[in-house]
Amino acid sequence: MENPFSDIEREIGIIVNSDVSWVARLRAICDLLRERVPHYDWVGFYVVTAPLTLTLGPYSGEATEHTEIPFGRGVCGRVAESEETLVIGDVSGEANYLSCSVNVKSEIVVPIFKGGVFAAQLDIDSRTVNAFTAEDRFFLENVARILEILF
Ligand code: SME
Repeated sequence: MENPFSDIEREIGIIVNSDVSWVARLRAICDLLRERVPHYDWVGFYVVTAPLTLTLGPYSGEATEHTEIPFGRGVCGRVAESEETLVIGDVSGEANYLSCSVNVKSEIVVPIFKGGVFAAQLDIDSRTVNAFTAEDRFFLENVARILEILF
């Protein structure tokens, strides 16, 4: 059986090369991921905009107060420092965590590199505990590589 994520990867490739603005492409990718994967309840990008600062980019889901995150703070800030994917199975057990909604139970943050330099990250929240498996991680790290040309 074909990997169910393969179709989504193909569609992301089409969006990346489409003739709309950078914001519209990233927003379309967030919407696609959120619509097509049932346990992806909030999908967004944080972009390195100033030294040691992440700024919220396009996203799909509820508005969040965390529009700027310093490196080191929360799950996103930790990934900005480690430059490695972080999967949090149960956010209630995290001391260094920035809550966007009481409904969020688990989270995955995947770094995006531009020419080997950390440039942005893909952040996904789920309302389900332990929602993110090794397959999600593999898929989303592939997506991050596809998106390199947008950063
Ligand atoms: N939970 C993240 C903050 C971003 S929201 O999930 C949209 C964190 O701890 O860094």
